[in-house]
Amino acid sequence: MVASWPEPIVSVQALSQAGVSTVPSRYVKPAHQRPLYNSDQSGLNTEIPVLDMSDVWRNPEGLKRVRKACEEWGFFQVVNHGVDHGLMKRVRGAWREFFDLPVKEKRKYANSPDTYEGYGSRIGVVKDAKLDWSDYFFLNYLPSSIRNSSKWPAQPPKLRELIEEYGEEVKKLCERLVETLSESLGLEPNHLMKAFGGVDKVGATLRANFYPKCPQPHLTLGLSSHSDPGGITIVLSDENIAGLQVRRGDCWVTVKSVPNALIVNIGDQVQILSNGIYKSVEHQVIVNSGMDRVSLALFYNPRSDIPIGPVGELLTENRPALYKPTRFDEYRLMIRQRGPSGKNQVDSLLASAHDS
Ligand code: OGA
Ligand code: NI
Repeated sequence: MVASWPEPIVSVQALSQAGVSTVPSRYVKPAHQRPLYNSDQSGLNTEIPVLDMSDVWRNPEGLKRVRKACEEWGFFQVVNHGVDHGLMKRVRGAWREFFDLPVKEKRKYANSPDTYEGYGSRIGVVKDAKLDWSDYFFLNYLPSSIRNSSKWPAQPPKLRELIEEYGEEVKKLCERLVETLSESLGLEPNHLMKAFGGVDKVGATLRANFYPKCPQPHLTLGLSSHSDPGGITIVLSDENIAGLQVRRGDCWVTVKSVPNALIVNIGDQVQILSNGIYKSVEHQVIVNSGMDRVSLALFYNPRSDIPIGPVGELLTENRPALYKPTRFDEYRLMIRQRGPSGKNQVDSLLASAHDS
């Protein structure tokens, strides 16, 4: 249990609104971590794949495209995903209204590193760590036994209802996607969900991210490089402002959001379950001097109290289990203490890392 933050929490949005002309040193990243704006010079295909799910779900050939996207990118955008476009706009707009409330109002929901639930500005409790240029609100959505909407923002008044409505639709999408991923791995449709611990036992959390405009965007990051710890993530990005970058070899590819699309990415638990066939790819968020950016990430996770290890059917003599089974709650605790750290966390579960 981690009870408190090592330093007082500062709202980055308040700093930004106060009009600071330089980034305080707490947010200045070491040179090797600063953003690179190189996606267009990479010479590689610089767009993450876009999958039309109405097509994928109708046409067995579509599974091959899903597999390729998960093997090569760990990221794709989906269109015709079944989530109502108007609802996507409304929930994002309502979160923007929440972040526009006075700091005093938002502080009523101030979070602690014990559960992370509520309004916050940092991940990890390492003293003197360099921080990210963002604020967020984090809440538990599934299993419904741990959902407590009285901890969700009461303002704007429609937000709680919108979170429920959006959560239900994205949950259904995730259930379908887990089936699709299972089939694309050559498994029975329900195999991966069983390995997740069953549809009634999975977990889901929501993080609303606010990236304030920044006077010196080249010195900092909105969100440091990390891979997502859970199963799969569904990101509803800002309509107008790019910011998410995905690692591709030595380059960072900036995601250009397709209108009304959702971004899907593979998390560490699916990398583990697929024995490394599917990649949980590093990503980060850059900020800019002109505009604030809002995004919503819904993390869909395996049941937290069962060991998660490579699926037996995917093991071969040439490719034995790469990872040691670990419970998701243990894994998450490690990340909550250390903060974002590239791919170091999943690599620490490599069977070889434990042998040495
Ligand atoms: C995250 C994340 C991307 C974004 O919340 O884990 O990667 O665009 N967010 O905000
Ligand atoms: Ni992420």
